[in-house]
Amino acid sequence: MAKGVVKMTSENIKAGSITIKNISRKYIDANGSEVEALQNINLEINPSEFVSFIGPSGCGKTTLMRLIAGLDKPQEGEVLLDNEAIKGTNYERGYVFQQANLFPWETIENNISAGLKARKVYKEQKDKVSHYIKIAGLQGFEKSYPHQVSGGMAQRASLVRALINNPKVLLLDEPLGALDAFTRIDLQNKLLELWRDRGTTMVLVTHDVDEAIYLSDRIVVMSPRPGKIEEIVDVKLSRPRSRSDENFLHLRTEILEKLNLASAPKSLEYYI
Ligand SMILES: Nc1ncnc2c1ncn2[C@@H]1O[C@H](COP(=O)(O)OP(=O)(O)OP(=O)(O)O)[C@@H](O)[C@H]1O
Ligand SMILES: [Mg+2]
Repeated sequence: MAKGVVKMTSENIKAGSITIKNISRKYIDANGSEVEALQNINLEINPSEFVSFIGPSGCGKTTLMRLIAGLDKPQEGEVLLDNEAIKGTNYERGYVFQQANLFPWETIENNISAGLKARKVYKEQKDKVSHYIKIAGLQGFEKSYPHQVSGGMAQRASLVRALINNPKVLLLDEPLGALDAFTRIDLQNKLLELWRDRGTTMVLVTHDVDEAIYLSDRIVVMSPRPGKIEEIVDVKLSRPRSRSDENFLHLRTEILEKLNLASAPKSLEYYI
């Protein structure tokens, strides 16, 4: 799909711009030392844009997502949604975590409808639940518990659990990181389909360069701690994208070089 071509329905006429203004966030670690997680982050994300963040572990990606979600506050700067300062969490900003984070004691169906119940709109909107179960391809698993479904199914359930509230922005913090390659590619396509149909602003954190190129309009490359924006890469490839396309591979090398991952290190500094 060409950028900006969004099928408009009553569900998706909405904005969803995010303004990140001079954000800095420090923590105090267990030893009492100051940890500067984010330093002077500035970024404008447009409504319906698909933006990915990529960078080394500990560079502040989750910290930034938590600030956009309203789960945390910066010491300096502010985050705005459609020009209004974000204060606390709100269903307008859905959050999908790396682990599915479903309530283990609730069925798939009850997990998916939890957001409607929290907003006290379940009675009027309960017809939506079967629609979203269908979107997630979970028909027949409504009464299953999270431990009775696969990792991919659980992650699809947590995706529609966030979407059922029709958020303006979907925050995706490595949602596909724990999945096998087949399931991951399947869910990448599902994400693209949902994005195309709904026009939700997508903010994705990933460690996977191919995933970032396959999905995004722009890729924000972060530097190691203190996390700063190293570079913003425009992905100008038309959709649907092919991972074996010459331009795709070229961009892949370019981003790996920016992350200093293009070739094997001369010596490892640590062993996992
Ligand atoms: N609540 C906290 N208290 C103290 N330090 C924290 C806290 N949360 C995050 N940090 C520190 O802030 C830095 C950034 O953490 P963050 O989780 O945002 O990184 P990340 O880029 O998401 O890493 P990963 O790719 O491994 O998920 C890390 O050094 C981390 O130890
Ligand atoms: Mg993280």
